[in-house]
Amino acid sequence: MSVPKGKLPLPRLAEMKVNGEKIVMVTAYDAPGARFAEDAGIDIVLVGDTAAMVVLGYEGTTVPVTMEEMLFLTRTVVRAARRPIVVGDMPFGSYQVSDEAAVENAIRFFKEAGADAVKLEGAGPSLSRVRTIVGAGIPVMGHVGLTPQSATMLGGFRTQGKTASAAERLVDDALALEQAGCFAVVLEAVPSPVAAEITRRLEVPTIGIGAGPDCDGQVLVYHDLLGLSEGHLPRFVKRYANLSREIRDALEAYAHDVRTGAFPEEQHTYEMPAEELEGFERTMRRPRASSTTDQARSASARPANTQLPAPRSEPPLRKTSSP
Ligand code: KIV
Repeated sequence: MSVPKGKLPLPRLAEMKVNGEKIVMVTAYDAPGARFAEDAGIDIVLVGDTAAMVVLGYEGTTVPVTMEEMLFLTRTVVRAARRPIVVGDMPFGSYQVSDEAAVENAIRFFKEAGADAVKLEGAGPSLSRVRTIVGAGIPVMGHVGLTPQSATMLGGFRTQGKTASAAERLVDDALALEQAGCFAVVLEAVPSPVAAEITRRLEVPTIGIGAGPDCDGQVLVYHDLLGLSEGHLPRFVKRYANLSREIRDALEAYAHDVRTGAFPEEQHTYEMPAEELEGFERTMRRPRASSTTDQARSASARPANTQLPAPRSEPPLRKTSSP
């Protein structure tokens, strides 16, 4: 598939690593989010399966989000993100069963949703999935450390690689993902020195989330960094705005204005030419034969055998503020 004009070429990410230019990645789940990311010069937009929690309302788990839901969200992001590389996150169940199922679902992200790449979690059995998907010509981003789809197995949402042996396993997993063909690897909730060592050893870029400053790039969840998520947030989140407060304040102000009549004001209403308004009012003042719809409506509201009231003329319309 040819790369659309303006799209950040995938090999540019490896160059950025070599040049020491940091890669910026953020999640997005809809067209406005993708547009904002594009305007901010973000390099990679991940349509994360965190959608389960931040968009779909599941609490503390990414597992329930489905392929269809992820494809729907990815399509909306793809429509608005022109320059950033769009990565579709493969949901739980879409790649665990077999290499065949994994490549079929990756193809759906690529072909039906227009993603530039896919991401999947873990090493071990995921390695042959990566090889198969990359073999089909679809770029894959790896993800090790805290892998939320297997949070139950990991004992919850907790930092990974905190012992020497666990840290060594993480290094091996990241190297194996690179060897399998990943173009980048996400390191989530990993001690900084471990992430720094992985970043030194890998030729492909590492993208950290809770993995310290030495990764080649950083990713945060859109709703977390903008202050749209509420309740407990992981230690690695930095909030750059408090949009939930702003949205609440705006909605309360709107409700108040509607209830008090302060909205809509004249500037929010439409006018009509004065002579048309006069003509309209004249027509409305004339006694009118009721329309077929009116007759049908009043007939259905009337008990059987009741007589129609005598026609009467309408009261004049109240003068509007229009000229
Ligand atoms: O689904 C997601 O948003 C992610 C990021 C946290 C890396 O996987």
